[in-house]
Amino acid sequence: MTISKQQHFIDKELDFGPDNYKPIPVVLSKAKGVWVWDVDNNKYLDMMSAYSAVSHGHSHPELLKVLHEQSSRLALTSRAFYTDTLGSFLETITSLSNFDMALPMNSGAEAVETAIKEARRWGYRSKNIKSGKAEIIVADGNFHGRTTTIISFSSSPNSKEDFGPLTPGFISVEFGSAKAIGEMINDNTAAVLIEPIQGEGGIIVPPENYLPEVRELCTKNNVLMILDEVQSGLGRTGKMFAFEHSNIQPDGLILGKALGGGFMPVSCFLSSSEVMQWLTPGSHGSTFGGNPLAAAIGKRALELLEEESLIENSRVLGEYFKNALIEMKSEIILDVRGKGLWIGVEIDSNYISGKELSNLLLKKGILSKETHETVIRFAPPLVITKNEIDWAINIIKETLKNISS
Ligand SMILES: Cc1ncc(COP(=O)(O)O)c(C=O)c1O
Repeated sequence: MTISKQQHFIDKELDFGPDNYKPIPVVLSKAKGVWVWDVDNNKYLDMMSAYSAVSHGHSHPELLKVLHEQSSRLALTSRAFYTDTLGSFLETITSLSNFDMALPMNSGAEAVETAIKEARRWGYRSKNIKSGKAEIIVADGNFHGRTTTIISFSSSPNSKEDFGPLTPGFISVEFGSAKAIGEMINDNTAAVLIEPIQGEGGIIVPPENYLPEVRELCTKNNVLMILDEVQSGLGRTGKMFAFEHSNIQPDGLILGKALGGGFMPVSCFLSSSEVMQWLTPGSHGSTFGGNPLAAAIGKRALELLEEESLIENSRVLGEYFKNALIEMKSEIILDVRGKGLWIGVEIDSNYISGKELSNLLLKKGILSKETHETVIRFAPPLVITKNEIDWAINIIKETLKNISS
């Protein structure tokens, strides 16, 4: 590997763009399935999947076909017109998730913003909350995106410092405690907005009774239960939606990432027609949201999750991978958690930091990334095979052994 070739691209990014990511030092130039290659043609197993956005694997041939066909026919119109692709995408996604309606956006953050606006309108117009008083209860340690309103209720000082004035109307309580939510619900509460499993917070799985209890509280108090499944949704946890593990149905659902099939930014907010009725013409929108290319890709991406048994693969291989990590019995591993192919490994920072470990794994051909300082995330594309996981397990095992000896 010629460092200088990689360094050339790294320097260019840093010379002309702000350093707001601190990427792992590798310069990628091509990918196929679960594998990616750097500019020096070194091959890596992708255990990051673009923060779970590449669940279908890189350049899925079926989605590539849709991309070519749709973009050569009709790619972008804006929502100033109807198209022959959007309705069918909305029909597919609403019937899969059991919601009446979906409003398409592009990024996850935009869909979260959509959910917040909808919840507030519903609060004022359906629940008769006094003007300007609507409250939304969120969870400590959340991650819902980077807009000014969303960072207003982030618990991470670095995400919000000197970006104010921030948006009021959010109350943050302990994640995993329905009791904490119950104590803050009042007549002004429009919604509870939480992740079913906190992803960027460190892959934190709440107690089993959490979502059912929140569901009960929301129903009892006429509060919308909105789940952000931008990362946990669409098969990542071994079910189509993470809320299915708890046998509940939320009132609102936010999806993104894998909805774009690894090609496009596609997101949406789903809810009942009672909630959606308040979005009247001109009240909300996005130039690119629901464009024909995004709708065609989104629809096929949803179909492929079931056609190719990607959800089942996530469930079975996720369990296998998680057990293998536990069975390593490494003194460096403090905890292994997650569901499906979405695994967080908490490591003992007395041995090594998350960043150092992901750099070591990079040298051995595995792309991973720490979340917080001490958690390594393993979230490969859902098309991964058992053999490929076995290959990764051996490398992880050997790397941990070398560190502790
Ligand atoms: C749960 C959750 N919500 C929202 C977002 C924001 O999505 P985007 O980066 O597409 O705006 C993320 C991104 O990681 C996420 O994990």
